[in-house]
Amino acid sequence: MLESTVKPTALKPDTLHHDVSLQRLNTFGLEAKAQRYYRATSIDSLKRILAEEQPVLVLGGGSNLLITKDVKGLVLHVDVRERKVLQVREGCVLVQVGAGEPWHDYVMHTIKEGYGGLENLSLIPGVVGAAPIQNIGAYGVELKDTFSGLLALNRETLKEEFFDEDDCEFGYRDSVFKRKLKGKYIITHVRFTLTVDRHDYKLEYGDIRSILEGKGQSPSPKSISDAVVAIRSNKLPDPAKIGNSGSFFKNPEFTETAFLELQKQRSDIPHYPLPGKRYKVPAAWLIDQAGWKGYRRGAIGVHDKQALVLVNHGGGKGADLWALAKEIKQDVETKFGVKLIPEVNVV
Ligand code: EPU
Repeated sequence: MLESTVKPTALKPDTLHHDVSLQRLNTFGLEAKAQRYYRATSIDSLKRILAEEQPVLVLGGGSNLLITKDVKGLVLHVDVRERKVLQVREGCVLVQVGAGEPWHDYVMHTIKEGYGGLENLSLIPGVVGAAPIQNIGAYGVELKDTFSGLLALNRETLKEEFFDEDDCEFGYRDSVFKRKLKGKYIITHVRFTLTVDRHDYKLEYGDIRSILEGKGQSPSPKSISDAVVAIRSNKLPDPAKIGNSGSFFKNPEFTETAFLELQKQRSDIPHYPLPGKRYKVPAAWLIDQAGWKGYRRGAIGVHDKQALVLVNHGGGKGADLWALAKEIKQDVETKFGVKLIPEVNVV
């Protein structure tokens, strides 16, 4: 078998490999090759490779990544695993998790332990180390709500540094690691404070409350997680079956004046008020109204149950997916005067 067709995680870790297929390392399932590939399973291993060569691409779970062509140079896959309770405080645990732990598996682990805090973030694709970079969020909860710091390796000094919540400068699908520290650090561990009792539930978003009521269940980390899994599986495609990376664009935000202008065009536009007299509008609605929902061109398309999700039905090319994304962006701008900003990282 050619090395490039082997699942990269089956290759010997902590070793440099050449010409490795990245298809199974990005949730869009796009074919692209890494000239060199290294999967680091420890901090020492990370330091060793970084001392030799700086990667051109660092892979988390590949879930927020659109690869449009082969990668010349080193692709570094961070696969540090750990699930540790650092401290038990009154009613809470402080946990530390390795960046390479798959996000949903870790959430399921916390549910099994009876910990609360991550249940609304069930079934989000990707790995733990990628989660703070874009402050993942769903159903009224964001990563930052339970975040208690992270450890990251400085790519230049090869020293480990601790970042607290303020250092991370979290925003909507945003952090310092997407802005001024972009490409400067490699996250190795993330800490969360989770509740052991006196859980604080968020039930107001989506259909969580009505699902629980319909089943006659009282809220618990487990029942909420089950509800979120049910809601998400209904409208978001499973990356194992249809390549995708969740929401492709961010939901745009407006000043009051700009929003009222938009509302003049379409009085039925869904919107959510934000602090500071700002408004958020679902990008899914704009794309849907522009007529793109369920659109398909070859292997590439727009999901038929959620217009914000671009999909690779199998065998699609990253460049074609990016071309479609740009067309949708242009069309929404022409029809509504709104500029959509991608949530995914385009390589
Ligand atoms: N809508 C449409 N057409 C569609 C889908 C939605 O018109 O095809 C409209 C509806 O009015 C709906 C509204 O858009 O009420 C919002 O849709 P939805 O509840 O599905 O949420 P979203 O705003 O599209 C956001 C996050 C998701 C997160 C959900 C649930 C962003 C960019 N996306 O989606 O996050 O799971 O809320 O909280 O903020 C992700 O980031 O990858 C992601 C999936």
